Amino acid sequence: MSASTHPCGTPSLTPAGWAERQLPHLDTLLLEQAHLEKKAAAAALAFLFRLPTDASQNRQLSALAREELVHFERTLKLLELRGIAFAPQEASGYAEKLKKAVRRDATRLGDELLVAAIIEHRSHERMTLMARATAETEPVVSRFYSDLCPAEERHEQLYLDLATSVVDAETVRTRHAELLAHEARVLAELPACPRLHGGLREAVSR
Ligand SMILES: [Fe+2]
Ligand SMILES: [Fe+2]
Repeated sequence: MSASTHPCGTPSLTPAGWAERQLPHLDTLLLEQAHLEKKAAAAALAFLFRLPTDASQNRQLSALAREELVHFERTLKLLELRGIAFAPQEASGYAEKLKKAVRRDATRLGDELLVAAIIEHRSHERMTLMARATAETEPVVSRFYSDLCPAEERHEQLYLDLATSVVDAETVRTRHAELLAHEARVLAELPACPRLHGGLREAVSR
């Protein structure tokens, strides 16, 4: 998986063994998942007010926002089942650093939609890995990740389509590649930590 490329052209960056290293921190990841789903719903709603009033696009984005809220509620249920309190949690910094590459010009909305697509892709990639890694030992958690994955894949595609509707196709191609390169740098520089969106920089041992 780590060397593969998504049909959308989005590379998979997560190295082999990443999901297995998260297993001792499953509760922390699930708490993060709840925060991520809530943020994803809020981001979709915010886009809904900034996109042109195209009925079909608005309907699809509205459905995406609702789907993220369903994911949020389902994650809260899983937290409750596992006796994990829904509490504040420090973010990994991934999304915040990704957004720093968004250009503040006429293509800003296109950039922001591409960043949303990249976040959906990375979530989908890592949730797929977590579903596999938990299949034997945590079947309920594995099923949870598996159930959510197809939606996140669709969300990536919708954000790519929306980007293409507000910026020309050539700009989308160029910016998608540039933002993916930025994402690879962000992940390489962020420290590895127990988060779905954690970085890949391992602490140097002496
Ligand atoms: Fe989601
Ligand atoms: Fe999503």
